[in-house]
Amino acid sequence: MCYILGAMYIIKTQNELRAYLTGKSSIGFVPTMGALHQGHIGLIEKSMQENEVTGCSIFVNPAQFNHQSDFDKYPVNIENDLELLLTAGCDFLFLPTVNEMYPHGFQSLQHYDLGYLDSVLEGEFRPGHFNGVCAIVHKLLQAVMPQNLYMGAKDFQQCMVIKRLLEITALPVQLIICPTEREADGLAMSSRNLRLSAEGRSRAATIYKGLTHIRQHQYSGSFAALQNACIMSLATQNIETEYLALADTDTLQLLPDFNAGSNMVVLFAGRLEGVRLIDNLTL
Ligand code: PAF
Repeated sequence: MCYILGAMYIIKTQNELRAYLTGKSSIGFVPTMGALHQGHIGLIEKSMQENEVTGCSIFVNPAQFNHQSDFDKYPVNIENDLELLLTAGCDFLFLPTVNEMYPHGFQSLQHYDLGYLDSVLEGEFRPGHFNGVCAIVHKLLQAVMPQNLYMGAKDFQQCMVIKRLLEITALPVQLIICPTEREADGLAMSSRNLRLSAEGRSRAATIYKGLTHIRQHQYSGSFAALQNACIMSLATQNIETEYLALADTDTLQLLPDFNAGSNMVVLFAGRLEGVRLIDNLTL
């Protein structure tokens, strides 16, 4: 059943969504897994400037988690999410159940050929993750049929994957990638930050400091030396690095060292207090 909270429609099924959206000329869409923060709200505000109607989905997608425990611990904060969306002026929230999105379960999910993107960095450390992301984003796009899709650059590789999804599916959707929103100490905003203790939260700022240090010293040292120093300094804060890599921004091909001829990005993934955090910085 569709209902209205303040001026926002809350819609639970794809049929109701289609009925609500029919006749709307320009739709901007922000898919999320909830536990919203200013990073998400920034995407919603951008969409509101550029579209007649702006919608957000909240759906913690079981198909993209590698471990049941990570799924179980994913922060859920729907009261706060509703308040943030209402304050931002979001027009509709799509809030489906697992059964609505996966009526046939997870056994026969479509396979998306993501090529190299599926085997490197996040692809290597989280096998199957991006196929799960594509499965849900594809379903959401088919349901919402937006002209414009807004995603954050914090998930650098995910943005590349979604670009590829749009090529594979030939859906007429424009992907708009918005800069990473950061806390005052530089930590990239993420729903997962909510799982950190106060001490962990303050240690987590070392990630951005490390990436910034690499960016600032790219002309005065080799990447390997800076990478090593950064991993060591993160370790002193109990941050265990999964990868800290230099890559070409257009292809995500890994680069052994700084290369003035490439557009470059440094990408990080690691764990602090059992919470997986990612970040990146273009150079
Ligand atoms: O980035 C996220 O929050 C999720 O991966 C997304 C795009 C909402 C798909 O579940």
